[in-house]
Amino acid sequence: MKITISAIKADIGSIGGHLCPSKKLVEAVSEVVKKSSIILDHKIFHTGDDITILMSHDKGENYPEIHRLAWDAFQRGTEVAKEQGLYGAGQDLLKDSFSGNIKGSGPAVAEIEFEERPAEPFLLFMADKTNPGAYNLPFYLAFADPFHNSGLILVPKISQGYKFIIMDMDFKGEGDKVIELETPNDIYNIACLLRDTERFGISEVYSKSGHKCLSLSTTRLHNISGTYTGKDDPIALVRVQKDFPATGEILSPFSISHYVAGFMRGSHVGPLMPVRVNTPVSYFDGPPIVSGVALCVHNGKFTEEVDVFDHPYWDYIRDKASAKAEEIRKQGFFGSAMLGMNELEYTGITEKLEELDKRFIIKEK
Ligand code: F6R
Ligand code: MG
Ligand code: MG
Repeated sequence: MKITISAIKADIGSIGGHLCPSKKLVEAVSEVVKKSSIILDHKIFHTGDDITILMSHDKGENYPEIHRLAWDAFQRGTEVAKEQGLYGAGQDLLKDSFSGNIKGSGPAVAEIEFEERPAEPFLLFMADKTNPGAYNLPFYLAFADPFHNSGLILVPKISQGYKFIIMDMDFKGEGDKVIELETPNDIYNIACLLRDTERFGISEVYSKSGHKCLSLSTTRLHNISGTYTGKDDPIALVRVQKDFPATGEILSPFSISHYVAGFMRGSHVGPLMPVRVNTPVSYFDGPPIVSGVALCVHNGKFTEEVDVFDHPYWDYIRDKASAKAEEIRKQGFFGSAMLGMNELEYTGITEKLEELDKRFIIKEK
């Protein structure tokens, strides 16, 4: 059976700052999705201040009515957020009306259409207080490095490598600017691009037999609205096992808790902390967090989810991530603790520097 899984995420308001949606808000979103007859199944999660709607259906990727359903659910949620006086109500709905595809209007989208295998396990990742480039390192390692993906040396099909679709997220023209690169031949070319996490992001990965196994939201909100409207807070869907990396191989690189862009005011650098689903944001509007669920889908119906970072091992990683967060916070806004001028999400400093420039004097030698 050919089905599509679609994950669509938005920040439409939260309690106490940019921390966490209210129960009423999550219920309002859920009520709209529940009533739909065009989907086969759905689940709702939240991570930090973002709500993710996971849906299964048989309509294919970019299907307008599926995107409209998410749009309508987020619109209804926004009404409730306004009624409750939540902070940032409707923050990620950047267009006044729905135009047929929710991509480019604020919410983050990841979708994969596939012929269901007899058993179809997959993962959904949801990150908050960071940008799509936060996934560059973990997915590069999971698909291309035998230190994390032992299948690359143990399983012939996996040894053939994968095809990466990488997007230039700074491209401002019509459509998407992408490049297709294949491992193992292009491994250094892939590395050259993915090191620039602000500009390049993995949007899809395919097996060499042409099966899509990864879809990632590569939208950049500030490119849509022109001004700061919150960090992009990316989601990703990954099909796992057999010809694809095993679940544990995909999870393995998240143990690094690598430093990513985001944190307070979307303008700092902090470790990506793997957290349980539905975890709010805290210290210094962070640290940047990622949650993950594993499910199976059969005839379009989801099993219950397993919370992949809810395990004693990840408590130890969380402690290490907290220590990394403390360490970089010690240097405040100096050097690599804060993003470069082009990536600062608030413009106050630019105005200050312009004013100060007028006060500089040239001293004669
Ligand atoms: C980061 C984020 C928060 C806000 C900060 C200030 O992505 O959402 O760190 O930038 O709380 O928020 P405002 O400007 O809404 O007061
Ligand atoms: Mg927010
Ligand atoms: Mg968010």
